Amino acid sequence: MSNQRVTTAYFRQAKQEGRPLTMLTAYDFPTARLVDAAGIDAILVGDSLGNVVLGYESTIPVTMEDMLHHVKAVTRAVKRAMVVADMPFLSYHISVEESVRNAGRMLQEGLAQAVKLEGGREVLPQVKAIVSAGIPVMGHLGLTPQSIHQLGGYKVQGKDEAAARKLLDDALALEQAGVFSIVLECVPTPLATLVTQKLSVPTIGIGAGPHCDGQVLVTHDLLGLYGGFSPKFAKRYAQLHENIMAALTAYREEVQSRTFPGPEHSFGMDETLLEKLY
Ligand code: KIV
Repeated sequence: MSNQRVTTAYFRQAKQEGRPLTMLTAYDFPTARLVDAAGIDAILVGDSLGNVVLGYESTIPVTMEDMLHHVKAVTRAVKRAMVVADMPFLSYHISVEESVRNAGRMLQEGLAQAVKLEGGREVLPQVKAIVSAGIPVMGHLGLTPQSIHQLGGYKVQGKDEAAARKLLDDALALEQAGVFSIVLECVPTPLATLVTQKLSVPTIGIGAGPHCDGQVLVTHDLLGLYGGFSPKFAKRYAQLHENIMAALTAYREEVQSRTFPGPEHSFGMDETLLEKLY
């Protein structure tokens, strides 16, 4: 694996050569450094920040300032992966001008290499204007969490003919508008496969089956950092919740029983000096 920065050209070439792309989320410096060192191609500073890190029930309360704060921490850590900054709710809906300004801030202040935004044909004017400003745009179709109140819940999308056709047409329109890649979230495998075949830009799936050109997961899900419910598609590669709870509990017990700190964690001195202090 080369240490060269991953670019949109790398994405295009990966699809042409049938090489699966890897993307994971990160919201802070240490996690971003680990994800980058693991050779993951792209790091998404997702607005899942809202749920995963800030404790909100949805992504809707996340602001541009929240995003920039975390994008900056991530880009300070990353050397190889492409850093994709998620555009939060309402940052690309008010006007085309404001959308370009906000996308520009992600690159100019946050030092990201690309932005991601949710939606299909309804966001084409913004997508075209952002791309025209020289900013790489990743699309996001299927389950688009910023529209959760319209969608009526976190459900698989594109299951009937009309919805499947809309998703395919949206994907083709986004490609025409200049996106370099599209996330497909919670889309049935056969539809995600068809969309992937029809597009020349890579699809990145999450809950969209194995035939997308790449995959993305929320790193906290992958690591099992939360004990409770996790979505069907979120495979847990570790159970850090249990490990962390065991470590925290052991610390509490050792402090309470005065077994921590031991001599190996403490500093000595010539104790005769202390006599002068009495
Ligand atoms: O915000 C996010 O983490 C995302 C991924 C789930 C694709 O949009």
